[in-house]
Amino acid sequence: MNLTHRPRRLRTDGVRPLVRETELSASDLITPVFVDATIDERVAIQSMPGHERVPLDEIVNRVEEVRETGVEAIMLFGIPQSKDPDGSRAWAEDGVIQEATRRITAETDAYVMTDICLCEYTDHGHCGPLEEGAPEHAHMTVDNDATLPLLQKIAVSHAEAGAEMVAPSGMMDGMVGAIREGLDEAGHTDVSIMAYSAKYQSAFYGPFRDAADGAPSFGDRRHYQMDPANKREALREATLDAEQGADILMVKPALPYLDIVSDLRREFDHPIAAYNVSGEYAMLHAAAEKGWLNLEAVAYESLLSVKRAGADLILTYFAEDLADRL
Ligand code: PBG
Repeated sequence: MNLTHRPRRLRTDGVRPLVRETELSASDLITPVFVDATIDERVAIQSMPGHERVPLDEIVNRVEEVRETGVEAIMLFGIPQSKDPDGSRAWAEDGVIQEATRRITAETDAYVMTDICLCEYTDHGHCGPLEEGAPEHAHMTVDNDATLPLLQKIAVSHAEAGAEMVAPSGMMDGMVGAIREGLDEAGHTDVSIMAYSAKYQSAFYGPFRDAADGAPSFGDRRHYQMDPANKREALREATLDAEQGADILMVKPALPYLDIVSDLRREFDHPIAAYNVSGEYAMLHAAAEKGWLNLEAVAYESLLSVKRAGADLILTYFAEDLADRL
């Protein structure tokens, strides 16, 4: 037997780490945190074991817990005191995110990112005010252009409270440009934008919608989120966001869309983010609970794959568990 090429030579214990192509570290990870204006005590989120909604009075403690694991960045999601058709609590100066952000930035060194969307704040659960004719007409949902100024107001109010990065997730056309303009006009030229560029209309968001109370009361989000069948369209979306000034381009969900992560990595010089969403977290937990998978091993392998596909940063509910180990 005379084999010239024996890839196994580089798999021995001593050399494996030297030839390793991908490294996952705590500094790549962002943990989503839920703050809820309607509760006084922490409430566990059933479908996302280990995660909870926390009241405002617990938010600083919650963020300290995250930082103790080695994760420095958080993405804040809010559940407001009340909802209305336009989602006006989303840009209120005393809104739940604004207040939480002020407390976190005053008392911790965490890097605070905020979700910019209206679905948790509108009484109908869609990501902006409705077009005239909705919901009676099934083809009508969110009024794109009426949503843009609201997104500007939300972003400015978050920046004013101390957010360092805002992440628009509503998939409205022109949202990145509108937010950039709004932030700049208000003097927040240093606040970055992480665009949910390729956000698909995915069934993997199920557990999040329970957690954040943001499920649409009628219809679905197919008129604004992307069709899971489309790949070229993701490049188009990302190009538009890049032109409008996005600092980071995101793909969401992560695991079922690794081809998109890889495409964006190849086509853009921007940092690429991926959102390992609630359903991706829940399914591994469910299988592990049955004893069918080793949770820590599959969580690590999943996130390593997301990095290998080309993501620089990963939003994940596994952040704290994995950071402890990394
Ligand atoms: C709000 C938003 C959603 C998620 C993040 N921001 C829900 C949705 O679009 O329905 C999902 C996150 C997850 O599933 O972990 N627009």
